[in-house]
Amino acid sequence: MTERKRILTGIRPTGALHLGHYAGALENWVRLQKEYNCYFLIADYQVSDYADDITRVREAVWEVALDWLAVGLDPEGSHFVIESLVPEHAELATWLGWFLPVAMLERNPTLKAEMEAMENPDDPNAERKSVPVAFYNYPVMQVANILMPRAHLVPVGDDQLPHIELTRETARRFNHRFKEVFPEPEALLGRVPRLVGTDGNAKMSKSKSNAIFLKDDAKTVTQSVMSMYTPRMNRTDPGDPEITPAFMYHDAFNPNRDEVEDLKERYRKGAVGDVEVKQKLAVALNTFLEPIRDRRAQYASNMRYVREALEHGSIRGRAIARETMEMVRDALDLNYLGKY
Ligand code: TRP
Repeated sequence: MTERKRILTGIRPTGALHLGHYAGALENWVRLQKEYNCYFLIADYQVSDYADDITRVREAVWEVALDWLAVGLDPEGSHFVIESLVPEHAELATWLGWFLPVAMLERNPTLKAEMEAMENPDDPNAERKSVPVAFYNYPVMQVANILMPRAHLVPVGDDQLPHIELTRETARRFNHRFKEVFPEPEALLGRVPRLVGTDGNAKMSKSKSNAIFLKDDAKTVTQSVMSMYTPRMNRTDPGDPEITPAFMYHDAFNPNRDEVEDLKERYRKGAVGDVEVKQKLAVALNTFLEPIRDRRAQYASNMRYVREALEHGSIRGRAIARETMEMVRDALDLNYLGKY
């Protein structure tokens, strides 16, 4: 049997996961886990909360692991890796940093936007932060994450594409200059690469309080749906489903296509109220989320299992990391002491 190709992908532990994570990435992960050897990373080196809230990071590690189990990632076939339990990531990032021009980081649109948001937050009352060195460096860390298991495929949401381009460039440079160590990884986008927020903001995000979480109970989901932003003033105004968040969610999560088409048709004519559109959406979302919630609750009552998933996954992550670091040291010819 030929060895399966490898996936590495990850999430920063900032809290529970939401529908945007699901449609943008998790759904692909679940689908691909049988075909690929998967490393799912909880990227705790890359969380900017350390300076102010380490407890939140620690809790978020469990939240992420529970959400992964709840959506059907299988830690017996795949590896759930906690990044800092594989300190080789830090070592590899240090070496790779020499092959990445600062100018390339500065052009990275995702990093640029995040740094801008840190220094000039939307909320005028929020604290302005100066950008820590570690934050500036996190794309390099991410390059190291992806190259560490010599991944072939990286399924992610579209905000991650610039980082994957950096990774491909780094792999090319390294292989060309030293030895062919790293495959050039491909990005794979989800069915909905970027899901709108409930407030109509371009992106669902915990920090913008416009998210529906996988673990939200039915009542919370219904409330979020009923108070969703709607671009129309009156129920008799003709509406455009393409720019209406409720319809974007219908498209993403309601399997009853006939119902959705009927609603859209009436919406375009001003012949359906937002309340009906939203009520049907709430039902569809809750039907979709119910089994996820149930599984989450089951795992939450067996935290030993979750812990073992993280522990064993991290051990496996470390094993392949050691293998890769041997190859890297060999390629860079770092065996200083071997000379005499
Ligand atoms: N930066 C990603 C995010 O913010 C998380 C991440 C870390 C990641 N390392 C990765 C994603 C490696 C893909 C591959 O969600």
